[in-house]
Amino acid sequence: MCGIVGYVGPQDALDVVLEGLRRLEYRGYDSAGVAVRVGNGASGELASAKKAGKLANLEKVLADQPLPSSTIGIGHTRWATHGGPTDRNAHPHLSADGRVAVIHNGIIENFAALRTECEKRGIEFSSETDTEVVAHLLAAAYDEAPAGVDRFAEAMRAVCRRLEGAFTLVATHADEPDTVVAARRNSPLVVGVGETADGTPEYFLGSDVAAFIAHTREARELGQDQVVEIDRARGLTVTDFSGAPAEPKAYTVDWDAAAAEKGGYDWFMLKEIAEQPRAVADTLLGRLGEHGELVLDEVRLSDQELRDIDKVFVVACGTAYHAGLIAKYAIEHWTRIPVEVEVASEFRYRDPVLDRSTLVVVISQSGETMDTLMALRHAKDQKARVLAICNANGSTIPRESDAVLYTHAGPEVAVASTKGFTTQVVACYLVGLFLAQVRGLKYEDEVAAIVEDLRALPDKVAEVLEQMEPVRALGRSLADANTILFLGRHVAFPVALEGALKLKELAYIHAEGFAAGELKHGPIALIDQGTPVIVVVPSPRSRESVHGKVVSNIQEVRARGARTIVIAEEGDEDVVPYADHVIRVPRTPTLLAPVVTTVPLQVLACEIADTRGYDVDQPRNLAKSVTVE
Ligand code: M6R
Repeated sequence: MCGIVGYVGPQDALDVVLEGLRRLEYRGYDSAGVAVRVGNGASGELASAKKAGKLANLEKVLADQPLPSSTIGIGHTRWATHGGPTDRNAHPHLSADGRVAVIHNGIIENFAALRTECEKRGIEFSSETDTEVVAHLLAAAYDEAPAGVDRFAEAMRAVCRRLEGAFTLVATHADEPDTVVAARRNSPLVVGVGETADGTPEYFLGSDVAAFIAHTREARELGQDQVVEIDRARGLTVTDFSGAPAEPKAYTVDWDAAAAEKGGYDWFMLKEIAEQPRAVADTLLGRLGEHGELVLDEVRLSDQELRDIDKVFVVACGTAYHAGLIAKYAIEHWTRIPVEVEVASEFRYRDPVLDRSTLVVVISQSGETMDTLMALRHAKDQKARVLAICNANGSTIPRESDAVLYTHAGPEVAVASTKGFTTQVVACYLVGLFLAQVRGLKYEDEVAAIVEDLRALPDKVAEVLEQMEPVRALGRSLADANTILFLGRHVAFPVALEGALKLKELAYIHAEGFAAGELKHGPIALIDQGTPVIVVVPSPRSRESVHGKVVSNIQEVRARGARTIVIAEEGDEDVVPYADHVIRVPRTPTLLAPVVTTVPLQVLACEIADTRGYDVDQPRNLAKSVTVE
């Protein structure tokens, strides 16, 4: 997600901030900006510059119109969420009086209500972001806060108490010559504590340590719901949002700059796998409106048009296609509308039957996949309605769609999609519930109950991630396999396909996913002595004894010599007699289980590829975004 840098110290702040932003470029971004506080004494000014596109664009602006030199500065690289990637929406955002500058990472869920409140006070907004509201609120809170040493921090605490959602905020004020304040809830923020060669203290803020690792390795990690005030003379003061003192966790960073970008992980893929609890939570942020209605990001369709839909196609490629296969189960179950799922590269060539009452759901992490874009354009030519599930804000696919749900997973750097997939699956559930609600098939409280189950997913994914050591060991033992088969039924079938795809693309091992019931119709002939077969077992509570049938399938392959690796719910003892290895996952409602059961398959593929000595982040022959047909 967004990159954040702040600096208070003796060096030129702009130089330090720009260098920090460069080190955060790996996070992915679509605009950048900086602000510095200038002037001597209590009353100064803020100077800022921001520009859409890469840092080079911002640097060109700064070369044409240099900012005055300063020793307090903040900087931001933005990954667009609310509002497209434009100059206006780039951070920092200034208050209406120009006295406060704010940068932000995260999503402020209640920004719409706060924006209305500011507008009623006569404030004109200059961007479409959720962030700008904080600049205006902070300026007002500062004016109302009692004069004193921690006035700015008190203002920040007052604002944070009103915010809902996830945020890291860093702010500077024209009247504060020595102080920067920052806050965090659900989004990361680290403080770097250093000194220059002559022993002068200096302080850094970063969304991760890569922002300041060139200057210091001494870091302080802020806890949840905390505000930090950094003052040139008084150093760091940390409190919670009510003002009670808090102690930040001190640690020494022992990574080099490259490791810092990957958060200490060996591969971006591992980092992105680990980010899934946060990414899934962000996909769900702000989805329930005031009256229990589901909220997408953009809807340019009327309720009547949505009610008229009598057929859904889900169209996507690769991993996103697998998310689409899961969508079919959820959308049909909740809406009773027939759903067809199709790979985008095939869709338009077979002349599908489309009209105004067809909804085509396109799924794309990048928003630029050419096959998916062409399918979308074909659907629109045939007058179908198009809803996009997408991660990259401002990309072509959401721009050309009638409705959009962004996954808010943050940039995915590794070619193999991980958090992209799990957040797409969650987004598909939201689309299913949205359609059911619009068509009057689900009451608000029914939707709220399922959303509660969805909100439990991040903790369940985190639980799975904590138990991955035996899976890694298993991965190392599978590194010499020639063929690995994946089986699943019901929603576990697309999970089996996804597990096989991950293994193919990363480890270059022949892998295939099958619907477990299809095995006896041919593929069972592939099983030889020792062939690893990974079986994703549905919940024992799933309908029509799907579970029992999969347990029988495990017995069938084992009887033919397979080495069986079984992913099963905690407490499912039926699988134990037939499993050579059991990977446990927490109990999860049947339809939602793919978000949890996919995670061990991601870890397994990554470990096998790493053991075989391959580049996990950049597998051979593949590109992250496939912009050719
Ligand atoms: O950006 P998209 O979601 O449209 O990309 C679709 C596929 O190219 C992508 O999911 C691909 O299959 C991944 N490399 C799988 O890990």
